[in-house]
Amino acid sequence: MPPFDKHLFICCNRREPGNAKGSCDPAGSEALQKAFKKALAARGLTRRIRANKSGCLDQCEFGPTVVVYPDAVWYSKVTEADVDEIIDEHIIGGRPVQRLLLPERPTEKTVGDV
Ligand code: FES
Repeated sequence: MPPFDKHLFICCNRREPGNAKGSCDPAGSEALQKAFKKALAARGLTRRIRANKSGCLDQCEFGPTVVVYPDAVWYSKVTEADVDEIIDEHIIGGRPVQRLLLPERPTEKTVGDV
């Protein structure tokens, strides 16, 4: 089987109620990831595109968070109602859904940066 063309990583992290960082999946239902899988299956895309469950993507304040690779497109505050639009516009159409993009933030220098 050839490798996947794209991966969607859907944060399904769950923290205890009241945790200051919040949770992308407070119910622990993985409903958003399941909705992506269902939408991909309905379009016959599961052999080319994979919707993976992810742990915390470190963008909790913007969650539920989804990132698409290799595009490196990050989405914030994604709901099940947004799934069809992301699949149709971005994954199939090649046009990231602008209204759901993670807000731009200054990049942080990390070890190894020059
Ligand atoms: S809990 Fe989802 S990005 Fe941190």
